[in-house]
Amino acid sequence: MKQNHVLDFDPLTDFVICCGQSEAFAATILATIDQGDEVLIFDPAYETYESCIILAGGIPVYVPLDPPYWTLNVDKFMRSFTGRTKAVVLNSYSPHNPTGKVFSKEELEVIAAACCQMDCLAITDEVYEYITFDTHKHLSIASLPMMKERTIITSSLSKTFSVTGWRIGWACAPTAIASAIRNIHIKVTDSAPAPFQEAALAALQSPPEYFSSLKADYVAKRNFLIKMLSEVGFQVHNKPQGSVFIFAELPKTCLLSDIDFVKELIEKAGVAAVPGRGFFHGDCNDQTQQSRYVRFAFCKSNDTLSAADQKMRSCVGK
Ligand SMILES: Cc1ncc(COP(=O)(O)O)c(C=O)c1O
Repeated sequence: MKQNHVLDFDPLTDFVICCGQSEAFAATILATIDQGDEVLIFDPAYETYESCIILAGGIPVYVPLDPPYWTLNVDKFMRSFTGRTKAVVLNSYSPHNPTGKVFSKEELEVIAAACCQMDCLAITDEVYEYITFDTHKHLSIASLPMMKERTIITSSLSKTFSVTGWRIGWACAPTAIASAIRNIHIKVTDSAPAPFQEAALAALQSPPEYFSSLKADYVAKRNFLIKMLSEVGFQVHNKPQGSVFIFAELPKTCLLSDIDFVKELIEKAGVAAVPGRGFFHGDCNDQTQQSRYVRFAFCKSNDTLSAADQKMRSCVGK
């Protein structure tokens, strides 16, 4: 944390090692959100945040990002705060699932200023922190002025080391908040698996070349998939700046909905993708637009990506 994010937390008091980011996030919400507290989340969003907030008695409030580049709409964001807003969830913002966007420093400064002004917590999901491309870099909102004391970072090994099954993640927070999260963690799972905590230590000490080759591999896979999707007619408005996803708009000539398209793709080409509407929430976004996106993942072997390429091209006759 200190080396990569220039953040100085005490390893003994400020970290809670959990069973993946999923548990770290759930324990954070249960420790900080009370009945009736409102929690802002950017839309579209990875799907697990909402249920944790509801389980804690909180109220998820979605703030739509503006397509096609999923930019922060400052006006909509500021209007989403009320006297009951307790926290802003920075849902895998740097980079973001499903869009692959990396929030800019300017956007993070707006969010940070609002959190300070409205006396809110920032709860982050940073699982793709090492998977950023081109000139884009991960920046934790906790490193902005006055934010360390009001930010809870959650992250995990799952994406950086392709070990989702190890179930090792963490919450990192100011000491008093970390202690509250630890209380929940102990009552829910007691401990993350000890052998994998040892393995995590070794993984996190990987040399810098590991992290640079991870990025290089994913850049090549991203470029391969963008080329294929563009050539079969998909509209890839924003080249992912990070993550392992491309959130593409269906070809203009395709009259199917996202769900019907994905069903056909599985049946005819044996290729699976995720219908975009699963990532949108509330009624603040236009329904038609929500059914026009499909999320493709490129965290696959090159052989699998090549096979998918051939099957998709033969399916659409290109
Ligand atoms: C944005 C995001 N956060 C969290 C997770 C889950 O992470 P973990 O395996 O550490 O629980 C995922 C997995 O797909 C994800 O995409």
